[in-house]
Amino acid sequence: MEFKEELKNYTNIINNELEKYIRKEKKLEYKLNESVEYSLMAGGKRIRPTLMLATYKLFKDDYEKCFPFAIAMEMIHNFSLIHDDLPGIDNDDFRHGKLTNHKKFNEATAILAGDSLMNYAYMTISKELLKECTEKKVRCFNELAESVDRMIIGEFVDTEYEGKQALVDELEYMHKNKTGALIKASVRIGAILADASQSDIDSLTIFAENLGLAFQIKDDILSEIGDEKVLGKPVGNDKKRGKCTYVSKYGLEEAKQKLDLSIKNSLEIIKKYGKKGEFLEKLAIYIKEREK
Ligand code: IPE
Ligand code: IPE
Ligand code: MG
Ligand code: MG
Repeated sequence: MEFKEELKNYTNIINNELEKYIRKEKKLEYKLNESVEYSLMAGGKRIRPTLMLATYKLFKDDYEKCFPFAIAMEMIHNFSLIHDDLPGIDNDDFRHGKLTNHKKFNEATAILAGDSLMNYAYMTISKELLKECTEKKVRCFNELAESVDRMIIGEFVDTEYEGKQALVDELEYMHKNKTGALIKASVRIGAILADASQSDIDSLTIFAENLGLAFQIKDDILSEIGDEKVLGKPVGNDKKRGKCTYVSKYGLEEAKQKLDLSIKNSLEIIKKYGKKGEFLEKLAIYIKEREK
């Protein structure tokens, strides 16, 4: 299958699964449910659950086994985006080419929609554990929860450093946490669920760490030179808010070099998987070249 087709395939599978979790009842809280659906189904790229399923597929074919974790990860990611856009954090008005959640609804609804998505993720996994509880699944639950902790820490550091100069290590710490953590956990959960060996888990962890850092460096670059219409979110906002990014720290050209290096490091690892790793190899290149 062509890479683009395979990527689309994963996206469709994940979207179909997510649809099942949308609440449609017309109860008093129907606006909260609408606002959850508004963000969750707004057209995100589904990179994290795709990474999880594709990593699982390196070892086994029945990737449906990942669904509860993949869905939970995407819910967490969308919670992080809704809160990231809030006036108290990045104060952004557009995402996915539409108004951000708090602009479309209101701040209270957006805060609670984020809370609801985070909790829905944990409900989804705990239900799965009630169905069948294995040590492996509990380990993945812990991987996910720890990555959420790191993501929140990264977001905090990001806001703390607004308008300041971060040192090289501090900037890397921020990026690895705010964006890298969920990406790393997605890959690790896929590998753990597929019973990968410890040495495979270790090398895939390094693959994912590089990919996660690359993902945020690219996000920084797109915030500087992206096309707002394609990106679906504002360009120039990092600069306006005085955010510490790879572009503000190193300049555009050096940021691109750092992106290339991280992708190169990730490719070196995934290439060892040969034909089986081809999709992940192309996904890494896609992350480097993406325009949205
Ligand atoms: C955006 O993530 C926020 C970052 C962590 C950089 P994505 O670019 O994966 O967001 P969507 O879900 O595809 O819109
Ligand atoms: C994204 O940070 C990290 C999280 C949402 C956890 P950014 O603020 O850099 O991402 P965008 O550019 O708003 O998507
Ligand atoms: Mg932010
Ligand atoms: Mg933001």
